[in-house]
Formats: sequence, structure tokens, C-alpha cells
Amino acid sequence: GAPVEVDISKIEAGALVRVIWRGKPVWVVHRTDEMIEGLPSLNDKLKDPDSAVEAQQPDYAKNESRARQDKYLVMVGICTHLGCSPTYRPEVAPADLGADWKGGFYCPCHGSRFDLAGRVYKGSPAGTNMVVPPYYYKTDSLVLVG
Ligand code: FES
Repeated sequence: GAPVEVDISKIEAGALVRVIWRGKPVWVVHRTDEMIEGLPSLNDKLKDPDSAVEAQQPDYAKNESRARQDKYLVMVGICTHLGCSPTYRPEVAPADLGADWKGGFYCPCHGSRFDLAGRVYKGSPAGTNMVVPPYYYKTDSLVLVG
């Protein structure tokens, strides 16, 4: 399939935009500074904080933010458990998701939780972090997925 172009300059801070790439949902999230700064504090609550499992991301996303640029998360919007679509829950502490929740993605099918970099929480049925697809910056404001 052809690469898909996303104009990230139009995404408001904190918002998530959906595109379709090779028949899959791909999400682009404009992370705020607060969202980015919260990521390291979660490391001991996650199954794979360093994103060491090879298949889940390109080399350039094997970092704390799992992204080429911290500000924009680009990720396949499919739960790594059995393929449901997680919901975007950017709010800091919804009571039903536990005191350690700093926002992220919640899968309604069997309760997997992921942080704002798509890293899976311990105790989730999903075993791996969500997938980061291949992408690059064509310009400062255009991301090409694929
Ligand atoms: Fe997401 Fe099972 S498919 S938790």
C-alpha cells in the first residue's frame, strides 16, 4: 500500500488523529509536555519499558517516547492481545483505571492498559507494547506513514 501523509500541524495538543494505513488504523497523538514528562515515572509498572521486543517498533522508536520526536506518537491502533481497538484515555486519573494511571490507552475487551507511548502495563492480558509502524518526517509538519 501507498504511504499515508498526516499533517501534524493541525493536531491540537493532547488530541489524537486517526488515519488508515494498509487497512489498519494508525493513530497520531500530539503529546503535551506533561504527557511526555510522565512517561519515565511509569517504567517499573510496565512489562517492557525499554521496548526491547524487536517486532514492536522500528529502531528509531526504541526510546523512552517510542517516537522519532517526543511530541508525536505514531502507533497502530490495535490491541496486542486479541486485536480490539483500545480507547484513548488521556485524562490523568480516571478512578476506574487505578491510581497509577497517567493517561494512555485502555482496551475495553479484556482490560489491557497502555501508557501514552503504547507501553503495556503489568497485569494486562496483552503481552507486548502496541506496534509503532514505519514512518518518517517529510517536513516539520508532514509525517509519512509507511
Ligand atoms: Fe485488548 Fe484483549 S483484545 S485486552
